[in-house]
Amino acid sequence: MAKVEVDLSTIPEGKNVIIKWRGKPVFIRHRTAEEIQEAEGVDITALRDPQKDADRVKKPEWLIMIGVCTHLGCVPIGEAGDYGGWFCPCHGSHYDISGRIRKGPAPLNLDIPEYEFPEENALVIG
Ligand code: FES
Repeated sequence: MAKVEVDLSTIPEGKNVIIKWRGKPVFIRHRTAEEIQEAEGVDITALRDPQKDADRVKKPEWLIMIGVCTHLGCVPIGEAGDYGGWFCPCHGSHYDISGRIRKGPAPLNLDIPEYEFPEENALVIG
């Protein structure tokens, strides 16, 4: 059970889905064109953990991340926070629409798991 397969055709644009992989939540977001533009337009030199959006995704419309706050491990809430991404209610960390830490105590961006797209609309995590 090291790998999990997800049918992406069931996730509409602009929606989040959470699945479980190796006991951890994995966030899958089907990003809109506006969200992709926003994620790509951020000046990464100003970020705590500088990472280009292109280095965090394989297809811009699909953002796949481990749903564990990099501060002390709570599960952030989707479609929340000051940067249009995720908000961790435990101590107030705000992540953007690329899952990058923007405000609050978390030191790092949300982690990206191993994954691939074996065919159109299929995602395999692990
Ligand atoms: Fe998320 Fe502390 S565990 S802010």
